[in-house]
Amino acid sequence: MHVAIIMDGNGRWATQRGLPRSAGHVEGAKAVRATVEAAARAGIETLTLYAFSAANWQRPRTEVDGLMFLFRRYLFEETRRCVEQSIRVNVIGRRDRLDERLLRAIERSERLTADGVRMHLRIAVDYSSQFSILEAVKRARRSQDLSPQQFQSLLHEADHSAVPSGEVDLLIRTGGEKRLSDFLLWECAYAELHFCDCLWPDFTEQHFQQALDDYAGRVRRFGKVNAEHSA
Ligand code: FPP
Repeated sequence: MHVAIIMDGNGRWATQRGLPRSAGHVEGAKAVRATVEAAARAGIETLTLYAFSAANWQRPRTEVDGLMFLFRRYLFEETRRCVEQSIRVNVIGRRDRLDERLLRAIERSERLTADGVRMHLRIAVDYSSQFSILEAVKRARRSQDLSPQQFQSLLHEADHSAVPSGEVDLLIRTGGEKRLSDFLLWECAYAELHFCDCLWPDFTEQHFQQALDDYAGRVRRFGKVNAEHSA
């Protein structure tokens, strides 16, 4: 099962407490740690987290720098735990606009966790689904014969996806908004959507479990009709 999460609400969480937005991101990083553990315990095969969109570069410089620092620190601190828990880390998105130190942390983490088989943790940084789709189109030499599977491989190349991740089964968005924000548009073609009002730093294993329970109750027809109606 592939679960993807749009982690929204860090800024509001901080503002509600009279704190700078960066404090919300620091608290959000704690929720990331807890959610990765919860997902591994729940037997999720792939977890993709939206950490920084290509549009997020337009935020104030201090906020962007703070986020880049948090990603680097997360990778340094969590890589050993991921190795111990057999979690494979992969950062997806563009790499050409990332700081050299972050790039080194990404490469180190991906190399050290490459043998992980329990769960595939994908963190989207400088990610834009529309950009990836356009890149994949540019890489397609003969688009007339292109199958969806071949297109997906081109998308993976454009995204720096280390292993084929497949379609998203469940997309969770916290923070009360109900939109996709340019996240995994191709991969979410048949995803079930779960929106949760809680702000990302408040997201706990219980919220995660509620989303999985909600998903378990959905009937996925993929455009077909149910067996009992097909006679
Ligand atoms: C959106 O909330 C969140 C982000 C743009 C950053 C996400 C970052 C983290 C969860 C922390 C670090 C992540 C890792 C992987 C270590 P927002 O700031 O737009 O919130 P708002 O809508 O309340 O303003």
